[in-house]
Amino acid sequence: MKNTARLLACLAVLLCVSAADAQEPQPSPRVTALLQAMTLEEKAGQLNLLSGHNAVTGPYATPDVESAIKQGTVGGLFNVYGAAYTRNLQELTLAHSRLKIPLLLGFDVLHGYRTIFPTPLAQAASFNPELIEQAERAAAREAAAAGVNWVYAPMLDVARDPRWGRMVEGAGESPWYAALIAQARVKGLQGETLSDPAHVLACAKHFAGNGAVEGGRDYSATDLSLRALRDQELPPFKAAAQSGIGCFMAAFNAPDGTPGITNRFLLDDVLRKEWGFHGLVVSDFGAMLELPVHGVAQDLSDSASKALLAGTDMDMQARAFVAHLPQLVTTGRVSSDALDRAVTRVLMMKEKLGLFDDPFARSDVEREATVIEHPDHLALSRQLAEESTVLLKNKDGILPLDPHAPQRIALIGPLSDAKADTMGPWPAHGDPAHVVTLRAAMQKSLKNFAFASGGHIEQASDQEMAKAVATARRSDVVILALGERATMSGEAASRAQPDLPGRQRELLLKITALGKPVIVVLLAGRPIIDPVLYDKAMAVLLAWQPGSQGGDALKRILWGEAEPLGHLPVTIPRQVGQIPITHDRRPTGRPATPDNKPYTTGYSDLSLTPQYPFGFGLSYAPFSLDTPTVSLQGDANKPDALVIETPVHNQGKRRSTTLVQVYTRQDVAAVSQPEKQLRGFARITLERGASGVAKINIPLESLIYHDGAGTAHAPAGTLTIMAGLNAQETQQVKITLPPAR
Ligand code: BGC
Repeated sequence: MKNTARLLACLAVLLCVSAADAQEPQPSPRVTALLQAMTLEEKAGQLNLLSGHNAVTGPYATPDVESAIKQGTVGGLFNVYGAAYTRNLQELTLAHSRLKIPLLLGFDVLHGYRTIFPTPLAQAASFNPELIEQAERAAAREAAAAGVNWVYAPMLDVARDPRWGRMVEGAGESPWYAALIAQARVKGLQGETLSDPAHVLACAKHFAGNGAVEGGRDYSATDLSLRALRDQELPPFKAAAQSGIGCFMAAFNAPDGTPGITNRFLLDDVLRKEWGFHGLVVSDFGAMLELPVHGVAQDLSDSASKALLAGTDMDMQARAFVAHLPQLVTTGRVSSDALDRAVTRVLMMKEKLGLFDDPFARSDVEREATVIEHPDHLALSRQLAEESTVLLKNKDGILPLDPHAPQRIALIGPLSDAKADTMGPWPAHGDPAHVVTLRAAMQKSLKNFAFASGGHIEQASDQEMAKAVATARRSDVVILALGERATMSGEAASRAQPDLPGRQRELLLKITALGKPVIVVLLAGRPIIDPVLYDKAMAVLLAWQPGSQGGDALKRILWGEAEPLGHLPVTIPRQVGQIPITHDRRPTGRPATPDNKPYTTGYSDLSLTPQYPFGFGLSYAPFSLDTPTVSLQGDANKPDALVIETPVHNQGKRRSTTLVQVYTRQDVAAVSQPEKQLRGFARITLERGASGVAKINIPLESLIYHDGAGTAHAPAGTLTIMAGLNAQETQQVKITLPPAR
């Protein structure tokens, strides 16, 4: 009995002690003094993050949020923006709260604040991290001038299932590439120092495994082995931590039965101890309310204690911390050290952002007026849209269209003039009225073209369809803008059948039946799985959701003033039944054979190959590659990198650009390795008929992989190196690494 009591006492101590990191940076005298002056309620208040948004037309704080500001029981607000308005909020804090602690002011700025860039998935198709970094700088500049000091971006979930609508927010299926993009985004958003009022605190979300939701259903369960977690989900998050990101947002879901906000392994062992992260961890929206629903907490008080002790510092919107932490500390269920640690992290972040020195530095009405939709930002948005657009099909080289040809053009389809749908699902403060649609862009420079919408994205009347077909009949070439409504992707937007919604396929069939050349411009937040579309259209330009300047970009691409430079950051399946299908499929002992031999992997009713492989993207000139050569760089006995050189030939009649990609595989490893994984790429531009060499360096360190216990292994033995213009058609060469010393 005595022993049991002792055991229970020990357990109680263990449970009320938070996940701690002995090496947390020391707080400044200012933060220490504040902490000493704070009541328990004020401390819990600093961990309380509330939405200030309650109107469709603009931001404002509800009366109870205002009174929380005055009482010092809220540490940050989100969904608030606008220089004048955010200035008022900070003034309210300074004038009325006892300790005058400025507010963190957060907003979801996923692909631009007011200048809307192509969606993150689209941006990833550019394979241009430098340009993505510049776009993030512009987004930060605009958001910061409007008083936002914290953005809930980048979204770093690796997405391998097109049914999952949130695929649109990330960089696609390759963990290695997602890590590269993560670095660019963190640099762009945070700048050199967080105190720079042209930059903002970035927040890596959703940590971790959110993209692996079962069935592609948003918010659903995940179940990940340590190996899958380490090699597939964590690389972009680790890259963000190493790039100095100041915040992580814990995921709603649970990669191992323990939801993100209570996941000590992820928040403490991996994030803080292993990666040395010293920033802030925030919950996702109302996540504490969900712990009892998950079945891992009794009630909200239990949620608050479990989340804080696991390492969650701020509570978004559940009001669990503010309501329960004071009592949890008073009754000893949560140690005061645990509370102080989280409060210190919040105060230190405010200090790093320069908020104590000048809470108004970012809320600058004049700067806001100059930087918002600055012409440079608009130009950047258009450039990124051009570089993100993927040419999937171009039969008989129908594109680009000849500007001098006397052709009657028809622009048809529900996405030709859809402003909000051209922006995408996270338009922040973007204004649909400022969006250049494809129709608007064509109106600016083409004298004559016929237009018919063909109805709406999800419904069309017989008359609308008939009018569209009649318009097509009177033309020589049809541009057909089809796809998804913006809100069909993004959060809570999973689709079991991500095909062309409504009557769009019927419209396509009716128009292609006329026998005219039909160019489909596809606007969507994910790969559209619709074989008829790819079969019937003469050309397909995947524009994703190209942002506020998308129409101009598309018009320029269609008429050859710009080239579509995008390559797929995700595989496009032929049918939903193929999911999961990615370029980095794990191998099997019974690989598929071309003749579909029995007792080998595959389907009896469908090919194993995708509709379009990862990395695919045509140029306006055809390119070919020769077999690559590979050499080792560094000390002969202990090399540090592979150098892959691939001869490239422009076989066409115009100057053009393509993307050479390198994939690798370790032939014999501690645990079997994916068939190929993207590890490097290089964009190359060649004059007509010219040849060049794409040189790609792959640090050996980037080839580290993990086994089932989560143990890291350095690359060893023989590696297969594959170079190609997409993941499916590659040429290979092998190299053997010297034995480790
Ligand atoms: C989303 C987050 C977002 C938050 C605040 C949540 O529902 O999952 O990505 O940052 O809302 O808007």
